[in-house]
Amino acid sequence: MPETSILMTSVGGYLPERIVTNEDLVSMVDTSDEWIRQRTGICQRHIVAEDEKTSDLACHAARKALAGAGLEATDIDLIIIATSTPDDTFPSTATRVQHMLGATSAIAFDVQAVCAGFVYALDIADAMLRAGRGKRAIVIGAESFSKILDWEDRSTCVLFGDGAGAVILESSQDADGYGVLASKLHSDGAHRDILYVDGGPSSTGQVGHLRMEGNKVFRHAVEKLSTVMDEVLELASMKVEQIDWLVPHQANIRIIEGMQKKMGLGDDRVVKTVDRHANTSAASIPLALSAAVADGRIENGQILAFEAIGGGLVWGAALVRFGRP
Ligand code: UT7
Repeated sequence: MPETSILMTSVGGYLPERIVTNEDLVSMVDTSDEWIRQRTGICQRHIVAEDEKTSDLACHAARKALAGAGLEATDIDLIIIATSTPDDTFPSTATRVQHMLGATSAIAFDVQAVCAGFVYALDIADAMLRAGRGKRAIVIGAESFSKILDWEDRSTCVLFGDGAGAVILESSQDADGYGVLASKLHSDGAHRDILYVDGGPSSTGQVGHLRMEGNKVFRHAVEKLSTVMDEVLELASMKVEQIDWLVPHQANIRIIEGMQKKMGLGDDRVVKTVDRHANTSAASIPLALSAAVADGRIENGQILAFEAIGGGLVWGAALVRFGRP
Protein backbone atom coordinates (compact mmCIF):
# COMPACT_ATOMS: atom_id res chain seq x y z
CA MET A 1 0.00 0.00 0.00
CA PRO A 2 1.45 3.41 -0.93
CA GLU A 3 1.88 5.90 1.95
CA THR A 4 -0.71 8.65 2.28
CA SER A 5 0.83 12.14 2.22
CA ILE A 6 -1.05 15.26 3.29
CA LEU A 7 0.32 17.94 0.96
CA MET A 8 0.30 21.68 1.61
CA THR A 9 -0.25 22.83 -1.97
CA SER A 10 -1.14 26.51 -1.66
CA VAL A 11 -1.36 29.45 0.72
CA GLY A 12 -3.17 32.79 0.72
CA GLY A 13 -3.06 35.74 3.07
CA TYR A 14 -5.21 38.80 3.66
CA LEU A 15 -4.60 41.94 5.70
CA PRO A 16 -7.24 44.62 6.27
CA GLU A 17 -6.55 47.91 4.51
CA ARG A 18 -6.18 50.18 7.53
CA ILE A 19 -2.64 50.44 8.93
CA VAL A 20 -2.06 51.73 12.46
CA THR A 21 1.53 52.75 13.17
CA ASN A 22 3.26 52.92 16.55
CA GLU A 23 3.13 56.71 16.24
CA ASP A 24 -0.67 56.50 15.90
CA LEU A 25 -0.80 54.67 19.25
CA VAL A 26 1.25 57.35 21.02
CA SER A 27 -1.79 59.62 20.90
CA MET A 28 -3.95 56.92 22.54
CA VAL A 29 -1.81 55.46 25.37
CA ASP A 30 1.39 56.34 27.26
CA THR A 31 3.85 54.60 24.94
CA SER A 32 6.52 55.36 22.34
CA ASP A 33 7.59 54.06 18.96
CA GLU A 34 11.01 53.34 20.48
CA TRP A 35 9.59 51.17 23.33
CA ILE A 36 7.37 49.15 20.99
CA ARG A 37 10.14 48.57 18.43
CA GLN A 38 12.79 47.68 20.99
CA ARG A 39 10.65 45.36 23.14
CA THR A 40 8.63 43.70 20.36
CA GLY A 41 10.02 44.50 16.89
CA ILE A 42 6.56 45.79 15.87
CA CYS A 43 6.36 48.93 13.69
CA GLN A 44 2.74 48.74 12.49
CA ARG A 45 -0.35 46.54 12.46
CA HIS A 46 -3.44 46.19 10.21
CA ILE A 47 -6.84 46.75 11.82
CA VAL A 48 -10.25 45.71 10.50
CA ALA A 49 -12.82 48.28 9.34
CA GLU A 50 -15.96 48.82 11.47
CA ASP A 51 -18.08 46.54 9.30
CA GLU A 52 -15.38 43.94 8.56
CA LYS A 53 -15.67 40.59 10.34
CA THR A 54 -13.30 37.69 10.96
CA SER A 55 -15.27 35.69 8.36
CA ASP A 56 -14.55 38.38 5.73
CA LEU A 57 -10.81 38.16 6.39
CA ALA A 58 -10.95 34.35 6.30
CA CYS A 59 -12.86 34.37 3.01
CA HIS A 60 -10.34 36.63 1.27
CA ALA A 61 -7.44 34.40 2.38
CA ALA A 62 -9.29 31.18 1.46
CA ARG A 63 -10.15 32.45 -2.04
CA LYS A 64 -6.48 33.26 -2.70
CA ALA A 65 -5.40 29.82 -1.45
CA LEU A 66 -8.03 28.09 -3.61
CA ALA A 67 -6.94 30.04 -6.69
CA GLY A 68 -3.29 29.17 -6.01
CA ALA A 69 -4.15 25.46 -5.90
CA GLY A 70 -6.36 25.70 -9.01
CA LEU A 71 -9.35 24.42 -7.02
CA GLU A 72 -13.00 25.37 -6.80
CA ALA A 73 -14.70 25.78 -3.41
CA THR A 74 -16.85 22.74 -4.23
CA ASP A 75 -13.66 20.60 -4.32
CA ILE A 76 -13.18 21.11 -0.56
CA ASP A 77 -14.27 18.46 1.98
CA LEU A 78 -13.19 20.14 5.21
CA ILE A 79 -12.87 23.74 6.45
CA ILE A 80 -11.25 24.39 9.80
CA ILE A 81 -10.88 27.95 11.07
CA ALA A 82 -8.54 28.61 13.96
CA THR A 83 -9.85 31.72 15.69
CA SER A 84 -10.38 33.19 19.14
CA THR A 85 -12.28 36.13 17.67
CA PRO A 86 -15.24 34.46 15.92
CA ASP A 87 -17.99 36.58 14.36
CA ASP A 88 -20.51 35.25 16.90
CA THR A 89 -20.61 32.90 19.89
CA PHE A 90 -22.29 30.46 17.51
CA PRO A 91 -22.64 29.28 14.79
CA SER A 92 -18.99 28.82 13.96
CA THR A 93 -17.17 31.29 11.74
CA ALA A 94 -16.23 28.29 9.59
CA THR A 95 -19.85 27.56 8.63
CA ARG A 96 -20.31 31.19 7.61
CA VAL A 97 -17.14 31.01 5.49
CA GLN A 98 -18.31 27.71 3.98
CA HIS A 99 -21.49 29.45 2.84
CA MET A 100 -19.67 32.57 1.60
CA LEU A 101 -17.25 30.44 -0.44
CA GLY A 102 -19.96 28.10 -1.74
CA ALA A 103 -18.07 25.08 -0.40
CA THR A 104 -21.25 23.03 -0.37
CA SER A 105 -19.52 19.64 0.05
CA ALA A 106 -17.41 20.63 3.05
CA ILE A 107 -17.92 20.10 6.75
CA ALA A 108 -16.84 23.18 8.67
CA PHE A 109 -15.95 23.99 12.27
CA ASP A 110 -13.78 26.30 14.38
CA VAL A 111 -10.82 25.45 16.59
CA GLN A 112 -9.96 27.65 19.54
CA ALA A 113 -6.31 27.41 20.54
CA VAL A 114 -5.53 31.14 20.50
CA CYS A 115 -2.06 31.89 19.07
CA ALA A 116 -1.33 28.16 18.63
CA GLY A 117 -4.59 27.79 16.68
CA PHE A 118 -2.95 27.29 13.29
CA VAL A 119 -0.69 24.42 14.42
CA TYR A 120 -3.66 22.86 16.22
CA ALA A 121 -5.96 23.13 13.18
CA LEU A 122 -3.23 21.84 10.89
CA ASP A 123 -2.72 18.76 13.09
CA ILE A 124 -6.49 18.06 13.22
CA ALA A 125 -6.91 18.46 9.45
CA ASP A 126 -3.86 16.27 8.81
CA ALA A 127 -5.28 13.52 11.05
CA MET A 128 -8.75 13.71 9.47
CA LEU A 129 -7.45 13.56 5.90
CA ARG A 130 -5.02 10.76 6.82
CA ALA A 131 -8.00 8.84 8.26
CA GLY A 132 -9.81 9.21 4.94
CA ARG A 133 -12.35 11.80 6.13
CA GLY A 134 -12.11 13.67 2.83
CA LYS A 135 -9.39 14.52 0.32
CA ARG A 136 -9.00 18.29 0.47
CA ALA A 137 -9.10 20.78 3.35
CA ILE A 138 -8.73 24.50 3.88
CA VAL A 139 -7.06 25.36 7.17
CA ILE A 140 -7.50 29.03 8.02
CA GLY A 141 -6.15 31.19 10.81
CA ALA A 142 -8.31 34.34 11.04
CA GLU A 143 -8.44 36.94 13.77
CA SER A 144 -9.82 40.37 14.62
CA PHE A 145 -7.93 40.79 17.89
CA SER A 146 -8.51 44.56 17.72
CA LYS A 147 -12.09 43.77 18.83
CA ILE A 148 -10.99 42.17 22.15
CA LEU A 149 -8.21 44.61 23.09
CA ASP A 150 -8.49 47.09 25.93
CA TRP A 151 -7.38 50.17 24.00
CA GLU A 152 -6.48 51.88 27.29
CA ASP A 153 -4.05 49.12 28.35
CA ARG A 154 -0.66 49.99 26.86
CA SER A 155 0.85 46.65 27.89
CA THR A 156 -1.40 44.75 25.44
CA CYS A 157 -3.00 47.07 22.86
CA VAL A 158 0.30 47.79 21.10
CA LEU A 159 1.02 44.09 20.48
CA PHE A 160 -1.73 42.75 18.24
CA GLY A 161 -3.12 43.14 14.73
CA ASP A 162 -5.83 41.64 12.50
CA GLY A 163 -5.57 39.39 9.45
CA ALA A 164 -6.05 35.92 8.00
CA GLY A 165 -4.03 33.23 6.28
CA ALA A 166 -5.21 30.00 4.67
CA VAL A 167 -3.55 26.84 3.38
CA ILE A 168 -4.89 24.07 1.17
CA LEU A 169 -4.16 20.50 2.25
CA GLU A 170 -4.57 17.67 -0.23
CA SER A 171 -4.31 13.95 0.39
CA SER A 172 -2.08 12.08 -2.09
CA GLN A 173 -0.88 8.47 -2.53
CA ASP A 174 1.92 9.51 -4.83
CA ALA A 175 4.04 12.08 -3.01
CA ASP A 176 6.25 10.30 -0.49
CA GLY A 177 8.32 12.68 1.63
CA TYR A 178 6.08 15.69 0.88
CA GLY A 179 3.44 17.38 3.01
CA VAL A 180 3.00 17.21 6.78
CA LEU A 181 6.01 15.25 8.07
CA ALA A 182 5.41 15.53 11.82
CA SER A 183 3.32 17.49 14.26
CA LYS A 184 3.24 17.72 18.07
CA LEU A 185 0.84 19.63 20.35
CA HIS A 186 0.82 20.39 24.09
CA SER A 187 -1.58 22.01 26.58
CA ASP A 188 -1.16 23.07 30.20
CA GLY A 189 -4.21 24.76 31.72
CA ALA A 190 -2.34 25.50 34.95
CA HIS A 191 -1.08 28.70 33.31
CA ARG A 192 -4.50 30.04 32.33
CA ASP A 193 -4.16 33.24 34.33
CA ILE A 194 -1.12 34.67 32.53
CA LEU A 195 -2.97 35.11 29.21
CA TYR A 196 -6.77 35.15 28.97
CA VAL A 197 -9.87 37.16 28.07
CA ASP A 198 -11.84 38.42 31.07
CA GLY A 199 -15.26 37.50 29.71
CA GLY A 200 -17.31 34.92 27.86
CA PRO A 201 -20.82 33.49 27.39
CA SER A 202 -20.91 31.39 30.59
CA SER A 203 -18.85 33.66 32.86
CA THR A 204 -19.69 37.35 32.44
CA GLY A 205 -22.01 37.20 29.45
CA GLN A 206 -19.76 39.83 27.84
CA VAL A 207 -17.06 39.38 25.21
CA GLY A 208 -14.33 40.69 27.54
CA HIS A 209 -10.82 42.03 26.96
CA LEU A 210 -7.46 40.36 26.55
CA ARG A 211 -5.29 40.34 29.70
CA MET A 212 -1.67 39.22 29.75
CA GLU A 213 1.30 39.08 32.07
CA GLY A 214 3.61 39.37 29.09
CA ASN A 215 6.89 38.74 30.86
CA LYS A 216 5.55 35.45 32.33
CA VAL A 217 4.35 34.28 28.89
CA PHE A 218 7.71 35.33 27.47
CA ARG A 219 9.57 33.12 29.95
CA HIS A 220 7.55 30.05 28.86
CA ALA A 221 7.84 30.79 25.15
CA VAL A 222 11.40 30.04 24.08
CA GLU A 223 11.80 27.09 26.45
CA LYS A 224 8.55 25.35 25.43
CA LEU A 225 8.94 26.15 21.73
CA SER A 226 12.47 24.80 21.53
CA THR A 227 11.47 21.59 23.36
CA VAL A 228 8.52 20.97 21.02
CA MET A 229 10.71 21.73 18.00
CA ASP A 230 13.15 19.02 19.16
CA GLU A 231 10.17 16.67 19.52
CA VAL A 232 8.92 17.15 15.94
CA LEU A 233 12.42 16.81 14.55
CA GLU A 234 12.74 13.49 16.39
CA LEU A 235 9.30 12.34 15.20
CA ALA A 236 10.31 13.06 11.59
CA SER A 237 13.85 11.61 12.12
CA MET A 238 15.25 14.90 10.85
CA LYS A 239 17.98 17.32 11.87
CA VAL A 240 17.65 21.07 12.23
CA GLU A 241 20.10 21.47 9.29
CA GLN A 242 17.43 20.03 6.99
CA ILE A 243 14.98 22.86 7.75
CA ASP A 244 14.93 25.40 4.92
CA TRP A 245 12.69 27.92 6.70
CA LEU A 246 11.47 28.48 10.23
CA VAL A 247 8.02 30.11 9.93
CA PRO A 248 7.31 30.96 13.57
CA HIS A 249 4.35 32.51 15.33
CA GLN A 250 4.95 36.26 15.16
CA ALA A 251 4.45 37.50 18.73
CA ASN A 252 7.72 39.23 19.51
CA ILE A 253 10.98 39.56 17.57
CA ARG A 254 12.91 38.69 20.75
CA ILE A 255 11.11 35.32 21.02
CA ILE A 256 11.67 34.63 17.31
CA GLU A 257 15.36 35.53 17.56
CA GLY A 258 15.68 33.47 20.75
CA MET A 259 14.43 30.43 18.82
CA GLN A 260 16.61 31.32 15.84
CA LYS A 261 19.68 31.39 18.08
CA LYS A 262 18.80 28.12 19.86
CA MET A 263 18.29 26.40 16.50
CA GLY A 264 21.42 27.98 14.98
CA LEU A 265 19.56 29.38 11.96
CA GLY A 266 20.78 32.37 9.93
CA ASP A 267 18.53 35.29 8.94
CA ASP A 268 18.18 33.70 5.51
CA ARG A 269 16.20 30.81 7.05
CA VAL A 270 13.68 32.60 9.31
CA VAL A 271 10.51 34.36 8.12
CA LYS A 272 9.82 37.52 10.15
CA THR A 273 6.69 39.60 9.59
CA VAL A 274 6.07 40.81 13.15
CA ASP A 275 7.35 44.28 12.20
CA ARG A 276 4.53 44.79 9.66
CA HIS A 277 1.75 42.48 10.93
CA ALA A 278 2.26 42.53 14.75
CA ASN A 279 0.79 39.51 16.57
CA THR A 280 -2.21 38.26 14.57
CA SER A 281 -2.64 35.20 16.82
CA ALA A 282 -3.84 32.14 14.82
CA ALA A 283 -3.35 34.04 11.55
CA SER A 284 0.31 34.83 12.07
CA ILE A 285 1.94 31.65 10.72
CA PRO A 286 -0.14 31.32 7.51
CA LEU A 287 0.22 35.09 6.95
CA ALA A 288 4.02 34.87 7.30
CA LEU A 289 4.01 31.82 5.03
CA SER A 290 1.94 33.60 2.38
CA ALA A 291 4.28 36.61 2.45
CA ALA A 292 7.38 34.43 1.98
CA VAL A 293 5.80 32.31 -0.77
CA ALA A 294 4.53 35.44 -2.58
CA ASP A 295 7.98 37.09 -2.60
CA GLY A 296 9.69 33.89 -3.77
CA ARG A 297 11.69 33.11 -0.63
CA ILE A 298 9.83 29.87 0.06
CA GLU A 299 9.85 27.49 -2.89
CA ASN A 300 8.15 24.24 -3.80
CA GLY A 301 9.78 21.26 -2.09
CA GLN A 302 11.34 23.16 0.79
CA ILE A 303 11.13 21.96 4.40
CA LEU A 304 9.28 24.35 6.70
CA ALA A 305 9.10 24.37 10.50
CA PHE A 306 6.12 26.00 12.22
CA GLU A 307 5.90 26.72 15.96
CA ALA A 308 3.51 28.68 18.18
CA ILE A 309 2.47 29.22 21.79
CA GLY A 310 -0.66 30.89 23.10
CA GLY A 311 -3.15 31.34 25.93
CA GLY A 312 -4.01 28.18 27.83
CA LEU A 313 -1.15 27.65 27.70
CA VAL A 314 -1.19 25.71 24.44
CA TRP A 315 1.76 25.19 22.13
CA GLY A 316 2.95 23.05 19.27
CA ALA A 317 5.14 22.63 16.21
CA ALA A 318 4.96 21.00 12.79
CA LEU A 319 7.33 20.12 9.97
CA VAL A 320 6.03 20.32 6.40
CA ARG A 321 7.63 19.78 3.02
CA PHE A 322 5.81 22.46 1.05
CA GLY A 323 4.17 21.93 -2.32
CA ARG A 324 4.07 18.76 -4.42
CA PRO A 325 6.62 16.58 -6.29
O1 UT7 B 1 1.06 35.32 21.14
C1 UT7 B 1 0.74 34.81 22.39
C2 UT7 B 1 1.90 34.76 23.23
N1 UT7 B 1 2.27 36.09 23.67
C3 UT7 B 1 3.53 36.41 23.72
O2 UT7 B 1 4.36 35.62 23.32
C4 UT7 B 1 3.92 37.71 24.36
C5 UT7 B 1 5.11 37.48 25.20
N2 UT7 B 1 5.57 38.66 25.93
C6 UT7 B 1 6.15 39.70 25.33
O3 UT7 B 1 6.26 39.77 24.13
C7 UT7 B 1 6.76 40.76 26.23
O4 UT7 B 1 6.74 40.30 27.56
C8 UT7 B 1 6.07 42.15 26.16
C9 UT7 B 1 6.38 42.78 24.83
C10 UT7 B 1 4.57 41.96 26.31
C11 UT7 B 1 6.58 43.07 27.25
O5 UT7 B 1 7.99 43.17 27.21
P1 UT7 B 1 8.84 43.00 28.56
O6 UT7 B 1 10.23 43.25 28.20
O7 UT7 B 1 8.49 41.64 29.12
O8 UT7 B 1 8.30 44.17 29.46
P2 UT7 B 1 7.53 44.14 30.86
O9 UT7 B 1 6.15 43.59 30.69
O10 UT7 B 1 8.41 43.48 31.88
O11 UT7 B 1 7.43 45.69 31.15
C12 UT7 B 1 8.58 46.50 31.25
C13 UT7 B 1 8.15 47.94 31.48
C14 UT7 B 1 7.09 48.12 32.57
O12 UT7 B 1 7.42 49.30 33.28
P3 UT7 B 1 8.15 49.24 34.72
O13 UT7 B 1 7.21 48.45 35.58
O14 UT7 B 1 9.44 48.53 34.46
O15 UT7 B 1 8.28 50.67 35.07
C15 UT7 B 1 5.83 48.35 31.80
O16 UT7 B 1 4.90 49.13 32.52
O17 UT7 B 1 7.56 48.48 30.28
C16 UT7 B 1 6.33 49.10 30.61
N3 UT7 B 1 5.44 49.02 29.45
C17 UT7 B 1 5.41 49.94 28.48
N4 UT7 B 1 6.07 51.09 28.31
C18 UT7 B 1 5.81 51.80 27.19
C19 UT7 B 1 4.57 48.02 29.15
N5 UT7 B 1 3.95 48.30 27.99
C20 UT7 B 1 4.45 49.48 27.55
C21 UT7 B 1 4.22 50.27 26.41
N6 UT7 B 1 4.93 51.41 26.26
N7 UT7 B 1 3.35 49.91 25.45
